[in-house]
Amino acid sequence: MSAMVDITFKLNGINRKTRVSATMSALDMVRDVLGLTGTKYGCGEGECGACTISVDGITLNSCLMFAADCDGRDVMTIEGLAADRKGEALRDSFVEHGAVQCGFCTPGFVMQAHHVLEKNPDASEAEIQRGIEGNLCRCTGYRKIVDAIAGVAAAAK
Ligand code: FES
Ligand code: FES
Repeated sequence: MSAMVDITFKLNGINRKTRVSATMSALDMVRDVLGLTGTKYGCGEGECGACTISVDGITLNSCLMFAADCDGRDVMTIEGLAADRKGEALRDSFVEHGAVQCGFCTPGFVMQAHHVLEKNPDASEAEIQRGIEGNLCRCTGYRKIVDAIAGVAAAAK
C-alpha cells in the first residue's frame, strides 16, 4: 500500500486540505476523493483530454498528474467555471451549436476552450483548432465544437 500524503491547495477558488495516496492521480482525487465528477476519465493515458483541468492557469491532463503534486497549487475543474462568464458563454454556445452529443468529452473541451479564449479572446478558427488539438471527440466530428468556440470568440471582437 502506498504512503498517504496531506496536501493543501486551492480548488475552484477555495482553500482545501485533503489526504491522498502518494500514487493517486489528480483525476482520481477530484472525482473520487472530492466528488467533482465533471472531469472525466477517458483513456487514462494522456490521449483524449477528457480529464482536462487547469493548474496555476495551465491546462493539463489530470490522469497524468499525481494528486500530491497539487500541493500548493491553484487548481480549477469544470465545476469552477459554473459562475464564470466565459465558461457560461461556452456552455451555451456548445448547446446552441449542437456540439454536445454523448457529452463525455464536453467538460474537457470547455476547460480547454476557456483556456484558449482567456489567452486569446478573439482567437481565429485556426488558433481554436490548434488550441483544442489535444482533445478528442468520438461523436461530433469537431466542426460543431469549433463553431461553438468560434461563436464565443466572435462575440469578443
Ligand atoms: S483520461 Fe486523461 S487524457 Fe484521456
Ligand atoms: S460528444 Fe461524445 S465524445 Fe464528444
